Amino acid sequence: MKDISDLISLLGGTGAIARKLGINPSAISNWKKQNKIPKTKYEAISKLSLDLNINIEEYLFPNDYKGSKFSILLIICGGIASYKSLEIIRLIKKNNIELDVVMTKSAQKFLTPLLVTSLNEKKCYTDLFSIEDEANMNHITLARKADIILVAPATANIMGKFANGIADDLASTILLATFSTVFLAPSMNPVMWENLATQENYHKLLDRGIKFIEPESGDMACGEFGTGRLPEPKHIIDEIVNNLNYKKKIQKQFNNVSVVITAGPTIENIDPVRFISNKSSGKQGYAIASELSNRGADVTVISGPVDIPPPKCNKLIKITSAQEMYDKTISILPADIVICSAAVADWRLIPEINNNHSLNTKHKIKKSNHNLRFTTLKNPDILETISKSKRRPKLIVGFSAETENIIENAKSKLISKKLDLILANDVSQNKVFGKDTNKVYVLTNNNCEEWSEQSKKSVASNLANKINEMFFS
Ligand SMILES: Cc1cc2nc3c(=O)[nH]c(=O)nc-3n(C[C@H](O)[C@H](O)[C@H](O)COP(=O)(O)O)c2cc1C
Repeated sequence: MKDISDLISLLGGTGAIARKLGINPSAISNWKKQNKIPKTKYEAISKLSLDLNINIEEYLFPNDYKGSKFSILLIICGGIASYKSLEIIRLIKKNNIELDVVMTKSAQKFLTPLLVTSLNEKKCYTDLFSIEDEANMNHITLARKADIILVAPATANIMGKFANGIADDLASTILLATFSTVFLAPSMNPVMWENLATQENYHKLLDRGIKFIEPESGDMACGEFGTGRLPEPKHIIDEIVNNLNYKKKIQKQFNNVSVVITAGPTIENIDPVRFISNKSSGKQGYAIASELSNRGADVTVISGPVDIPPPKCNKLIKITSAQEMYDKTISILPADIVICSAAVADWRLIPEINNNHSLNTKHKIKKSNHNLRFTTLKNPDILETISKSKRRPKLIVGFSAETENIIENAKSKLISKKLDLILANDVSQNKVFGKDTNKVYVLTNNNCEEWSEQSKKSVASNLANKINEMFFS
């Protein structure tokens, strides 16, 4: 990272600058110490740098985060390592990243909000039930505003609350209300860290795509030895900055690319109270939609009935049956990319009685229809129609939910429907539907990759990388 001290040397050193600007050299020493030049001096410094051909922007905005408007919410919990969060604040500010800070009640036993406020030069939030703050829906605003939420140190307590959906203070409520990337940097006594409850919470959160900056091993403040020490603030901030750099790199990756995604199940009504469907939750399709939206794509989601919050996308169209999903999807074309992750019913059922007479299904079918039978009517095939249409998108991605011969079945679907890519998964024994994780095989015409079991968010991110390779190469 570019240092203000280097800039001062390049401009002739403390004494020369002080003389040219007519200020006390001690002011410039302060700039060096704080690694920051006051905004009121930007113009004067800029004039000094003109003849020397120095790009002062690199020093004043070292990582260009201001231009990108990246922001971090730091949640400080109450642990022996709480004091290290002061250095974390200093480093975030040194990187010119916008910062808000929330402290738990326990954190305030170790550090005062006043200290944090003066370091961050901004109000530090502590209270969920603050009338002033909640006038602006503070907990939701704080949860949504940040690109990254960093919990450091993260106590065993906050991990337990987060893993189990408990929202009883400002910090834990924000964690449940956010779409942002969440990093936890746990720190605790080694026995607390190894405790099965903590380990279960840790794995639950990992599976949900929460990122961890792992605790280190060594001598602990409590006198014990083991794993549980908070890594050095510099290490934590390096990870965060790497993530922000990655976000910056990918946030325009799919600019001007239109994507249509189908998600969730379809419901095929038999009569007003009965239907056939499946247990697809829509989580994988929604995760892909949010991921591609975050990368700049113009995303339309066509979704069957689901019980999960809407994804980040430009347009969400709700449908019920396979026929409706087909009609909507076809009507939206052309698109650059179509991803069909919905579990579409292959058939609908037509109830009949005696001699193939159809029944009136406007009202509930009565039990008294003793010879009730069903014939099947095949639903239209969305993937096949799109891939063979004149308005074929540049890239078509299918999903193949199988209960046996997973790779073989997916491969034949890929070939027969002329897809570019297919993600196959084993949906037997409720392994995928409704779960937060997925294990997929990713097939193209000449390749088959086995991806390890991972969160559906992580599958979405890896799929976006794969599509980027295929689409732009
Ligand atoms: C002196 C002291 C040090 C503590 N250090 C830790 C710690 O390092 N990690 C931890 O998980 N809990 C630690 N605790 C326990 C937490 O403060 C306690 O679980 C609290 O409820 C955490 O609240 P919070 O998660 O809302 O901040 C410590 C408690 C005390 C009194």
